[in-house]
Amino acid sequence: MKFFLDTANIEEIKRVNRLGLVDGVTTNPTIIAREGRDFEEVIKEICSIVDGPVSAEVIGLTTDEMVKEAREIAKWADNVVVKIPMTEDGLAAVNILSKEGIKTNVTLIFTVAQGLMAAKAGATYISPFVGRLDDIGTDGMELIHGLKTVLDNYGYEAEIITASVRNLAHVEAAAIAGADIATIPGSLFPKLWSHPLTDKGIEQFLEDWKSVPKKD
Ligand code: G3P
Repeated sequence: MKFFLDTANIEEIKRVNRLGLVDGVTTNPTIIAREGRDFEEVIKEICSIVDGPVSAEVIGLTTDEMVKEAREIAKWADNVVVKIPMTEDGLAAVNILSKEGIKTNVTLIFTVAQGLMAAKAGATYISPFVGRLDDIGTDGMELIHGLKTVLDNYGYEAEIITASVRNLAHVEAAAIAGADIATIPGSLFPKLWSHPLTDKGIEQFLEDWKSVPKKD
């Protein structure tokens, strides 16, 4: 399973990248706004740190606007992926961009049908938002299971990025469902390798170690 970091914060990216755990990065306009930095500058910096795909989202809503922005963003780095919203115009943009070899990540997917449309239009990645589905009282993880089944049924190459991940259970469930990728907020990532019983165990070992006779 691949792990992406859902952040544009350079310190968070460097912290996890040091462990060899970052396969890519995803951003969106909200995440970029949080950093208070120029969009192009921050994306280029992330692309220089991380080897894998780095998603940067378009703002335009018409096909023409999205394609124009995407072509510009695609020039920023070899590993940049253009994030396109799941709309009719977005699908048309993905269709054009995929033929030009520009990689796309179709975002804000909430149904199996939307994911299927995006994959068929030529998306490289599709991003179902599990947390936001949970927020409205539905089971976001059911969507991951459904998408996995449908993409496998027909052999689509689009990879599933489990997005809007809010907790460790989401990451584990995405792995069990066979999602290709989970994109994880920087604040959540450390919870994947931590456990209070691990910390307690280390503390106990060090305490007991004090009673071991030492030569000097
Ligand atoms: O990857 C999409 C993600 O950033 C959205 O997360 O928590 O705003 O629903 P959230």
